[in-house]
Amino acid sequence: MSEQRKILVTAALPYANGSIHLGHMLEYVQTDIWARFQRSLGHEVWFAWADDAHGTPIMLHAKKRGITPEQLIEEMSAEHQKDFQDFNISYDEFSSTHSQANQVLVELIWSRLQDKGAVQARTISQYHDPEANIFLPDRFIRGTCPRCQSKDQAGDSCDACGASYDPTDLIDPQSALSGATPVLKDTEHFFVTLEQFRDSLSTWIDSGAVQSEVANKLKEWFGDALRDWDVTRDAPYFGFPIPGQPDKYFYVWLDAPVGYLASFQTICEREGLDFEEWLSPDSTTEMHHFIGKDIIYFHCLFWPAMLEGAGFRLPTKVHAHGFLTVNGAKMSKSRGTFIKARTWLDHINPDALRYYFAAKLTPSLGDIDLSLDDFKARVNSDLVGKLVNIASRCSGFVHKLGGGCLSSALPDPELYAHFLQQQEAIKADYDQVNFAGAMRQLMALADEANQYIDHHKPWQMAKQEGRADEVVAICTQGLNLFRVLITWLQPVIPETATQASLFLNCPVDRFDSVNEPLLNHSIEPFKPLMQRIEQTQLDQVLDASRESMT
Ligand code: 2FM
Ligand code: ZN
Repeated sequence: MSEQRKILVTAALPYANGSIHLGHMLEYVQTDIWARFQRSLGHEVWFAWADDAHGTPIMLHAKKRGITPEQLIEEMSAEHQKDFQDFNISYDEFSSTHSQANQVLVELIWSRLQDKGAVQARTISQYHDPEANIFLPDRFIRGTCPRCQSKDQAGDSCDACGASYDPTDLIDPQSALSGATPVLKDTEHFFVTLEQFRDSLSTWIDSGAVQSEVANKLKEWFGDALRDWDVTRDAPYFGFPIPGQPDKYFYVWLDAPVGYLASFQTICEREGLDFEEWLSPDSTTEMHHFIGKDIIYFHCLFWPAMLEGAGFRLPTKVHAHGFLTVNGAKMSKSRGTFIKARTWLDHINPDALRYYFAAKLTPSLGDIDLSLDDFKARVNSDLVGKLVNIASRCSGFVHKLGGGCLSSALPDPELYAHFLQQQEAIKADYDQVNFAGAMRQLMALADEANQYIDHHKPWQMAKQEGRADEVVAICTQGLNLFRVLITWLQPVIPETATQASLFLNCPVDRFDSVNEPLLNHSIEPFKPLMQRIEQTQLDQVLDASRESMT
């Protein structure tokens, strides 16, 4: 085996105030496929994760429900984790950003930023709701767009014309909490001065740590001086207090990415790993973050600046993806296309969706469409019609004519070798998060396996006297080709792969385990590994989604 890599992988931390929907799942599936793929090569992989527990929306949500934020985040964590487990997301740790470990790390990073002279205090003037007695985040202020005059727009940007502006530019501002007219009030805030990290950030961006599309965006932002980052929120707020600063809290986006590390630290303690070594700037380990394109700024400017300022290593790579659309449009509550993970799980198997996402995911930032008609056609054709069909066509004869035992030699070793020759190209696609490319190659091989069976027609041979051994040999070939495919698809469809491994009586979790074919080996009776997707299931998902929103 090539050298073993040590990899920390993360997916963006979901906010602890709402259910997981398919837009989230796209990213978690992407991350999970990549993590499982790396494990299947024998690398050391740790998938560290958490709920993003802080911020004004979570505080207000809990208040509305008459519970404490701590109760809310505990409840959400249980719900989230159930969804992830049922989607077979193979994380090693799921914690919360509201943890002691995270607070300690945040305070450490903060003190190092201060020591580096990267923190400045300034008095700013911010909208305050005099009735609710709270400083208002931009999205809690509504008013008329200063550019197009559309009414009821948010405090930072206009949905109608796309303009972005400061809340003080809004015409007739109103607090979304109380309806009161907000008033400007002075408050002292702390800022992280980003400009001093310009050179190290530029070097990092040029090191291949981001996709080229992302690098181009970042370079645009670098065209201007980097604006200082306001990391302070005034009480009342649900977050970590800024040490020595009464009534001041760290902004949720400061402690959220630190949550990656705090979660990983828990793994390190449990597994006896050297946390310090993983974090040191000259570490030989890797740190990969999977994120949506809307949070590039946080992960490619703020976060590496914080790491650099704290004397820690920078991410090896930030992998950004586009948004999920359903049936060609933004997910919509009224159309029933705002689909929660749980609603999906209630009606359709998770591997089918994982496969569909994989078939569409490339390293580009383009949006990914879940077209439900296409989903049904694709899963039925590729997974049921091509992949599972190979096994179901071959297994019966092995049991009927071969006593459940595979032959002692492959009748067509060249065809098997031809499959193995694709291994490096498929691995390269997986590694580069070009899952669509890997799926294309795997399905082309599935076609070849089916053609092999079509050509030899074991069902005809089986009717002829004295050809039992030949039939079993053909089916041994077919099942070995199936084994290659399911082993290489295991990162994508782990549940199906587990069933297949029970049927084949052999593990399917190591990429190179197929280098030797399975011969003279007993298999179990075949049970259907995946059912066809029916229109009624899709209808049920849409109906249930519409209902859950009313
Ligand atoms: O955008 C979001 O949903 C954030 N909760 C992601 C946080 S990712 C990380 F920085 F913690
Ligand atoms: Zn506008």
